[in-house]
Amino acid sequence: MNKAKVFITRKWPAAVEEQLKARYDVTLNEDDKPLTADEFRHALQHYDAVCPTVCDSFPAEVLKVENKRCKILGNFGVGYNHIDIAAAKAENLIITNTPGVLTESTADLAMTLLLMSARRGAEGDRLVRSKQWHGWCPTQMMSSDVTGATLGLIGFGRIAQAMARKAHHGFGMKIIYYKPSPAKQSVINDLNATPCDSIEQLMQSTDFISLHCPGGDSTRHLINQAMLDLMQPTAHLINTARGHVVDTQALINTLKANRIAGAGLDVYDGEPKVAEGLLQLNNVSLLPHLGSATIATRTAMGEKVLNNLEAYFNNQPLPDRVV
Ligand code: DGY
Repeated sequence: MNKAKVFITRKWPAAVEEQLKARYDVTLNEDDKPLTADEFRHALQHYDAVCPTVCDSFPAEVLKVENKRCKILGNFGVGYNHIDIAAAKAENLIITNTPGVLTESTADLAMTLLLMSARRGAEGDRLVRSKQWHGWCPTQMMSSDVTGATLGLIGFGRIAQAMARKAHHGFGMKIIYYKPSPAKQSVINDLNATPCDSIEQLMQSTDFISLHCPGGDSTRHLINQAMLDLMQPTAHLINTARGHVVDTQALINTLKANRIAGAGLDVYDGEPKVAEGLLQLNNVSLLPHLGSATIATRTAMGEKVLNNLEAYFNNQPLPDRVV
């Protein structure tokens, strides 16, 4: 029997690429070069399954290509705001994602940024490398305490709750959160977490704000100038969700004026481009979308995609179906 034809848009961890080769007639992207919209259209026309990832854009103009052979997009990533879901539905395309397996590594990275921002880690590294560090002194690079401070989470799903556990049980942080629907009582009890009635209330009541809401039009510039203006001057903003959740120019203005103490970003509006204004600032820590980038997590993400493909080709219920 002919093997199903599967197209992988970017390089995956070797262990999962081996499994793909064993099971499918697979086309890999060995050079890991970002592909164009035309290459995605071609893949949709010539493969049974296409597996994009979070940096590949699949708008309606791509999904609506004529003479499609593909019936399933097995997304390598939990976020799927890079795929036009309404268009996918209209085209009867199945979309799957990879929830669950990247929770802890992404929460670890959010804590990393929180600590970097609070303790001026990236700035200190730059100082040492520039050979401008002239020795310890009592007032050098003073920063903010993490232990015992308050962490406010916007969005309170899996990753936010994992971060809250690390922050509360590891650093004795007080947890507040905003989520439109109530969170599980057992989670609230474990974290001694306090809900906020609105994002505005959360913005003004906390030392650290960490964003964990989904991407997409409904959260574009959720954190705008008015929201940033509510933050305490000693507060820090951490974003490991999606870049467009924050109005970048408003954040640059706020950091430039030292209106808040700092920010830690793993994601950017229009990434991989990063606004020049951010690059100029010392009070922002910048990472290149590393949230899930551990070997174990990226391998587990690939295995999730494999499980979804396997279920699809065997007419079984799909473990992680989005639409
Ligand atoms: C995702 O899976 O959505 C992440 O952003 C990748 O780390």
